[in-house]
Formats: sequence, structure tokens, C-alpha cells
Amino acid sequence: MKATAKAHTNIALIKYWGKRNEPIILPTNNSLSLTLDGYFTTTSVEFDETLTKDQFILDEQVITGEQYERVASFLDIIRKLAGKQLYASITSKNEVPTAAGFASSASGFAALAAAGTKAIGLGLSNMELSRLTRQGSGSACRSIYGGFAEWQMGKKEDGSDSYAIPIAPAEHWDIRVAAVVLSSTKKKVSSRAGMKRTVETSPFFQGWLDSIPQDLTTIKEGIRHRDFQKVGEIAEANCLKMHATTLGANPPFTYWHDTTIAVMQKIQEMRTQNIPVYFTIDAGPNVKVLYLPEYEKIVEETLRSLSGVADIRLSKPGQGVTYL
Ligand code: DP6
Repeated sequence: MKATAKAHTNIALIKYWGKRNEPIILPTNNSLSLTLDGYFTTTSVEFDETLTKDQFILDEQVITGEQYERVASFLDIIRKLAGKQLYASITSKNEVPTAAGFASSASGFAALAAAGTKAIGLGLSNMELSRLTRQGSGSACRSIYGGFAEWQMGKKEDGSDSYAIPIAPAEHWDIRVAAVVLSSTKKKVSSRAGMKRTVETSPFFQGWLDSIPQDLTTIKEGIRHRDFQKVGEIAEANCLKMHATTLGANPPFTYWHDTTIAVMQKIQEMRTQNIPVYFTIDAGPNVKVLYLPEYEKIVEETLRSLSGVADIRLSKPGQGVTYL
């Protein structure tokens, strides 16, 4: 009753920002992401009759507290689905540098769902696996697939139609992402808490929601035709709209630091010099830069030269969940 799975993290080009149902994680809008090759989690799950509770080891550390509870509650869902009351030993290794500002929860829950369901003997389709993964962390449901994936919010309140679908595989288009790691990263509002406060209090939230369908239609067209300008423009604008909602929240907040803004301005300035680059930012200060392979050198050099930038990590499109 043991299985090991590997899943990559993803970067949202159309953001998931808001829940309509918190316990089972149903979003207020569809979102779309690119899975990245450089950042992944490998997880082994072994169910064992002799255990009286789950044990979770992450990067060789025994995990307790909130992080443990989130993993154990997720395994409860798997146990219920399988109809088996067995505890597991979970061993995870993260190749997601937290410094780069990628959420390890996306690759983490995707790998956990894949390894956990396989170990307990559930043969799930990718659709079923994505739907289950969603309940661990919303953005994780998109990491079941490589390349571009869209999380369909669904209409049903039981969540049965809320899961990601593949839009285009990693091989479709070699689009690159540079993660700009900032030197100072102050403590942040978690994405979970940030989106909750925004949904409950920001008068800009409705405007954000109203703008999503058009963004999705246009970006999918751009992806299909490998139209970098179209994809970049929509991704950047969508990111700015998401971050604008946090300024309208009560109390207001922002994920941006001074260097975040400096990097954003640099990207926009590079475009005036005919270097096609665009940015997106998740629930943190680090900027992710979209570019095409032929511009890698100039993008890396320019970003590295900025003060307040600690590191640049380059990434290509990555694959979906695999079993080892
Ligand atoms: C800004 O998936 O981390 O990265 O569902 O509460 O676990 P929970 O939230 P999470 O939120 C990700 C928010 C985001 C945008 C995105 O990835 O779409």
C-alpha cells in the first residue's frame, strides 16, 4: 500500500482569487495556469495497519501543527473515498525554493493526492484526481496537468464539476518564466487569508469577477496561436486587477514591496525598447517574468542588475503528475 508521485508547481496567468465555498474549496472564477518544470514535490505515501495516526515528514523534518492538520484532513478525504480507515506515513521532498515565491502547496497537494490515492488502491482519472486535489489547495488542482491548464469553477455546490482541464501540453509552446527573487521578504498575508478578506470586504471584487470571462477567452486564443503579446498583455493586466482588489479590502493590504514595483516598471520599460516581456505576481512580493527563449540572456542580465534583486530562477513549461 505504498506509492510515490511527483508534481510540479504552476503559475497562474488568470488568477484564482476568491472562494464561494471555503470548506470544499470552490472558486468564484475560472483560472488558468502554466505548469513549470523546475519546481516540484516528490511524495511517498504508505498506508500501514499498525499506525494509530498519520505521520508527515517534509524535507526530513517531522511536521506538526497547522501544516500537519491540513495534510491529515486531506488524507481523511482519501480514506472516506476509499472506505478504508488506515493511517499513513507520508514523506515529502520539496524542490520548490520558497525564496522564489512559488507556493509549494500546489505541487505538494497534487503529489499527495496522486500518491495517496494510488497507495490506497483508488484508480482515479485525471479529472477525478484534479477534483480531489482541489480540496487540499485550490491552485493545486491545475498541477495535475503539464503545460497550460484551466480550473473550471463549476456550477454545482457539491463541487462535482469543479476541476482543471488541460488546455495545451508543455510541448505546445516553449514560453519561459523567470522568477525574480527579492532580497527582503517581509511576512505576508497568506493567499487563503488574503482572498477571504478581499471577497468579504473589497468593493473592487465584483469588477474583478466581471472581467474574467473576456480575459480567459482572449488568453486561450493567444495560447492556441502562440501569440506571445496577447498572452503577456492579458496575464499582466489580470495580475494587476487581482492585486488592485486587495487595495480596496478592509483593512487594505498589498503584497508589493518597493522592489516589486521597481521590477514591474523595469519590465514595462523593456517593452518600450522592443523586448517582449510581461510580468505576473502571486500572493507575495516576488515578480514572475514571461519571455520567449531568444530573450533569455537580456532578460536575466537586466533583472539581475536591479538593486534589491537577490536571484533570478529560470523555468520552462513542465509536465503533469507522474508516478515513480
Ligand atoms: C494568488 O491555491 O494557495 O496564487 O485554495 O486557499 O489553498 P487555497 O489557496 P491557493 O491560492 C493561490 C492564489 C494565487 C493565484 C493562483 O494561483 O491562481
